[in-house]
Amino acid sequence: MPETRSNPVSNAGVRSSSVEIPVCRVALIGFGTVGGAVAKILCESGDRSLRLTHICNRNVERKKQPWVPSDVVWTDDVQSVLTSDVHVVVELIGGLNPAEQIVRSALEAGKSVVTANKQLIARHGPDLLQLAARHGCQLEFGASVAGGVPVLPALRTGLCGDRLHGIAGILNGTCNYILSRIENARIPFSEALEEAQARGYAEADASEDLDGGDARAKLAILALAGLHTRVEPESVRARTIRTIDAVDFDYAAELGCTIRQISRADLKADTLFADVGPCLVPSGSPFGRVQRNLNLVLTSGQYGGDMAFLGAGAGGDPTAVAVVSDLMFVAQKLSAGPGGGGAASYVSTPGISHDFETPWYLRFFVRDQPGIVAKLAEILAAHRLNIDSVLQKPGFDKAALPFVITLEPCRDSLLHPALEKMSGLDFAIRPCLCLPILR
Ligand SMILES: NC(=O)c1ccc[n+]([C@@H]2O[C@H](COP(=O)([O-])OP(=O)(O)OC[C@H]3O[C@@H](n4cnc5c(N)ncnc54)[C@H](OP(=O)(O)O)[C@@H]3O)[C@@H](O)[C@H]2O)c1
Repeated sequence: MPETRSNPVSNAGVRSSSVEIPVCRVALIGFGTVGGAVAKILCESGDRSLRLTHICNRNVERKKQPWVPSDVVWTDDVQSVLTSDVHVVVELIGGLNPAEQIVRSALEAGKSVVTANKQLIARHGPDLLQLAARHGCQLEFGASVAGGVPVLPALRTGLCGDRLHGIAGILNGTCNYILSRIENARIPFSEALEEAQARGYAEADASEDLDGGDARAKLAILALAGLHTRVEPESVRARTIRTIDAVDFDYAAELGCTIRQISRADLKADTLFADVGPCLVPSGSPFGRVQRNLNLVLTSGQYGGDMAFLGAGAGGDPTAVAVVSDLMFVAQKLSAGPGGGGAASYVSTPGISHDFETPWYLRFFVRDQPGIVAKLAEILAAHRLNIDSVLQKPGFDKAALPFVITLEPCRDSLLHPALEKMSGLDFAIRPCLCLPILR
């Protein structure tokens, strides 16, 4: 049970000298973009139930700030934090090593943990939740997906009464920035990437973002929190956005659509259908309207239907708000006394499949010659795939002619043998781009 302090202002804003509130002692490990913003909120806030007592960072001397109260201990010794009397450790160094060991040690020492570490939770979330439950403490990770958008707390509280079966989202701000820039300016992918890097929206090596690694880790966390399923991030298929060309937005527009990186997970019986990658989405749909580096998460529940969560998926201040909100939640739980520790909920391990049934967008770049469409139609027919439309815009170079075939709904597994057959055709000058169309 945390110590108590006299609170000069009650919740109702009425002055009272007699209200005693429990004080929760907090240690920050990692004083970077998010850690600094969390410290600022804690130091500026009038909420006296949370008291920042330690700030831990490697080579900590260069990190010291004059606005931090003088009684806060600055240290680069993690062990001294773990053996101190803090109630909650906030892990904000990121990555797996040494973050995983720090979080395990904190939980084993009976300290609750708040983290924004997507890699750690995507890989070890179920085990760490069990460890926390065994030691009667809390593990919260509300900032690890969609930064400041409170979707994980909503899954934990506001939606836990529903039985969710689907979660889909725009979870990577870098990809959304690049795709919406190509959409609006019709610039090449490489130019949009350079612009994102220059503005700080993409790292120098943006592979994790562009190729879907970041989004599938976040999808695994959402599936854990909302669908109660254990998903290894690597078991989710991730498709890159590097293959998207400005011309794809012209053809998508002909179909009333635009292109976004969508992460989706649908639980059906014992199978979790999951996929991350570029998809066509209707221009007027919630996904189609998300611009720049914003995030959007849609959930589908058996009883409550669909819900949407939109906002800043990254940035020091929005992410820090999510961390401090988790801290307040943990402090409330701890003040409830022994037994306030979280119970590990049941987590299933479904089979993972990417065999969604959708309509498809196939874009070809060919050296023009007679009989191309007939040859492609023959292959599709041989695989029992139905063409919905053929689109060819005028004015392109005949040596590199883009055109599109859309298909009626079929399973991914039926389409891929046909695509393999098409990859051997001598008139194709680039591999066919194949995108699901989400209606
Ligand atoms: N930034 C965002 O918008 C955002 C959004 C959502 C989630 N997150 C997550 O929040 C976490 C923190 O991100 P961030 O952007 O704040 O990262 P950051 O700016 O790189 O800060 C990390 C801090 O941790 C320190 N650190 C790294 N390794 C350490 C170690 N072994 N021992 C002690 N200190 C160590 C770093 O020190 P140095 O100064 O020496 O490097 C730095 O001060 C990550 O898990 C990230 O994925 C961030």
